[in-house]
Amino acid sequence: MLRLQGPLPAGYTDASPDALAERIQAAKDHLGDSLLILGHHYQREEVMVWADARGDSYALARIASESDARHIVFCGVHFMAESADVLTKPEQVVMLPDLNAGCSMADMADLESVEEAWDEITRVTDIDRVVPITYMNSSAALKAFVGEKGGAVCTSTNARAVLDWALARGDKVLFFPDQHLGRNTGHAMGFTDADMRVWNPKLELGGLEEADVKDATFLLWKGHCSVHQRFRPQHIEEARRDHPGVMVVVHPECAREVVEMADQVGSTDFIIKAVKAAPEGSTIAVGTEIHLVQRLAAEAEAEGKTVFSLDPLICPCSTMFRIDAAHLCWVLEELVAGRVVNQISVPEDTAHWARVALERMLAIT
Ligand code: 13P
Ligand code: SF4
Repeated sequence: MLRLQGPLPAGYTDASPDALAERIQAAKDHLGDSLLILGHHYQREEVMVWADARGDSYALARIASESDARHIVFCGVHFMAESADVLTKPEQVVMLPDLNAGCSMADMADLESVEEAWDEITRVTDIDRVVPITYMNSSAALKAFVGEKGGAVCTSTNARAVLDWALARGDKVLFFPDQHLGRNTGHAMGFTDADMRVWNPKLELGGLEEADVKDATFLLWKGHCSVHQRFRPQHIEEARRDHPGVMVVVHPECAREVVEMADQVGSTDFIIKAVKAAPEGSTIAVGTEIHLVQRLAAEAEAEGKTVFSLDPLICPCSTMFRIDAAHLCWVLEELVAGRVVNQISVPEDTAHWARVALERMLAIT
């Protein structure tokens, strides 16, 4: 979903990297403890160096919920900033340096189509036994939907714990928007493809027969991440052929056939820990967004390890990439001038139920 972000004044677009760095430092010094800059692992280096805390989407949500900072500048994407707003106190302000930093996967499920799906499922099965689970990569409106319907949010860090929780409460899960995270987690729990059906929101009854909807334990929304779907089994075969002994670590947004072949699977935080834990001399192929892979490669080199991207063609997350030093500098200098720009504010009626769903997740994990 394209949001509105006007061009920055020339004083930002024309500034050199060094000048921007000096100005960001000055603004940070001025704002002191009233400011918290959060950086997701996919952020570019010119932004990440300014983050007071970095993490995966789960860690950042938790850090935001525990922070007392008056202003939180979220260097990540829209759904992350929304979650931070929902989890913080009313007097705290969350800002996203570029409003166009969305997530194409999150945009694959909207409230209207999820409500339609829910109504259709209600017609063929006992809806009280269906638990809706939304991936963190979704709008606050969808988080509110699951909160109100007795479900919860999950991230790639805690999908298994949240799905265990859901299936202790019901017989069936409607999981959106990422079919891959749902499928990979279901398999890790011991389920098979026979227990899962893909729900295509563009088709009546998700393109399924009534019997499918009744039988399935997992109804997986037909959504995906355009960055992670690029990784293919052939990349793993090539990595193993060219680098005997290579360890392959991928994110669970990758397709099932890739995850099945990988040595380790987990969130961005998990990937970082897996690389850190590998012994000196290891070679590690990583299947996730390129800025994280490049950062890991630089850090690993100093520790005598080799890290490379599983896909030799660069695969950045184009929306994460929208946040740059110029936008960060602009948001901070506006704050210094007493002006809040790019505030992410979830209306309280939505925030209430979204908070319920997020807090359930935090309590489960
Ligand atoms: P993490 O929760 O692992 O940081 O993943 C977020 C994301 O958007 C991955 O594409
Ligand atoms: Fe969304 Fe994929 Fe980018 Fe993650 S990497 S923020 S899922 S588009």
